[in-house]
Amino acid sequence: LASIEVDVASLQPGMSLTAKWRGKPVFIRNRTDKEVEEAKAVSLDDLKDPVARNANLAADAQANDLDRSAGEGKENWIVMIGSCTHLGCVPLGQAGDFGGWFCPCHGSHYDTAGRIRKGPAPENLPVPTFSFVSDTVIKIG
Ligand code: FES
Repeated sequence: LASIEVDVASLQPGMSLTAKWRGKPVFIRNRTDKEVEEAKAVSLDDLKDPVARNANLAADAQANDLDRSAGEGKENWIVMIGSCTHLGCVPLGQAGDFGGWFCPCHGSHYDTAGRIRKGPAPENLPVPTFSFVSDTVIKIG
């Protein structure tokens, strides 16, 4: 399927689900306020990959929390392809030194905005093309 629609109505803050799109896992997380605050507090200078990697934005958009998220008013939502940018393992959620995702294959740590912070992965987890088609349904692709 070129695109899929995912119902996220049941995702309370702190909950996530994994959809499948084009054969790949897509992580959708309703982040808590604390997770958003933590991600916002990070300086771009501290990022290994300062590029947003967000297919919905310009290729040179920076990896601040807003541009990693679903955007203004929906900053709690994060949608990312769940494939480690090192060698493609599927990272584990709510794990690792930065409270985001952890890839157990070779130890890459991603933060609550899915940005690579430690380990061999070179880039942030990519954000696919997506949009909210209603308050509770996300279209991916
Ligand atoms: Fe994730 Fe190597 S594939 S750290």
